[in-house]
Amino acid sequence: MRIQHSAAPLGAEITGLDLAQPVDSKTFQQIEDLLHDRGVIVFRGQDLTEEQHITFSRRFGDLEIHVATQCLRPGYPEILVVSNVIEDGKPIGLADAGQYWHSDLSYVRNPSRGSLLLAREVPVQDGRVLGETLFASAAYAYDTLPEGLKARLSTLTAVHGYGYRYELQNSAGLRGKLSDQQLSTVPDVHHPVIRRHPITGRKVLFVNEGFTHAMAGMDQAEGQALLQQLFDHITRPEALYRHNWQVGDLLMWDNCLVQHRAIRNYEWPMRRLMHRTTVAGVESFQ
Ligand code: OGA
Ligand code: MN
Repeated sequence: MRIQHSAAPLGAEITGLDLAQPVDSKTFQQIEDLLHDRGVIVFRGQDLTEEQHITFSRRFGDLEIHVATQCLRPGYPEILVVSNVIEDGKPIGLADAGQYWHSDLSYVRNPSRGSLLLAREVPVQDGRVLGETLFASAAYAYDTLPEGLKARLSTLTAVHGYGYRYELQNSAGLRGKLSDQQLSTVPDVHHPVIRRHPITGRKVLFVNEGFTHAMAGMDQAEGQALLQQLFDHITRPEALYRHNWQVGDLLMWDNCLVQHRAIRNYEWPMRRLMHRTTVAGVESFQ
């Protein structure tokens, strides 16, 4: 197994490891340490069945079943299909997942520990792969805040929600509508603005454009202005890693340490097909 860091403050690549084979505990520890250091890692050249994808993901914890049940892989509810592919007139997955900065499942009480996204088909135009994914380090964002702002933020909590974002994304009706029953499973939640990583204790700035829609107990306009200032800080160009996909990439990210955004620079009939598993996390704390 070879490890190479990206030039950015996050991101690393692992080659020479076949995840279809069992991973011994020493190697697994190295992987976890790398994840906690770099926030996002790519395992290149993985040819995995659904079972193998799920089995490796489970090493990190229990897996979540996504609320958008119409986008789950039939027979494998742990796998969320992220795809623009249309079959029999119907989308087979989430066609427009994450085209805004976000951290997966930050809108639930126990936000996800991490996600593992496997590239099965990627759109190619003139020899170039499109549909890149951008990552920003929330840990680096915290580290580089002015001291005064760190102190001010240390007592604040923010409000995260899924329903309003889903509707924003669904204006074209591309996704099935979420039922009231589905929506009732994702009420708004509060998280500390400065959050500690549940395993390493590292501090991160835990607000994101996608799901964080207010500062708790703060005037709406004032809260929005502060949030916008933090979003801009988190996504400064120097804090970004851009993932250029290859078929067989299994990309894993830590949803506490980083946030991400999909780039939609391709259109049907170019096909993009990704499978995601989502590892459960614990309640956030300061
Ligand atoms: C996700 C996601 C981005 C992408 O699967 O959680 O945000 O580029 N995907 O597909
Ligand atoms: Mn996502």
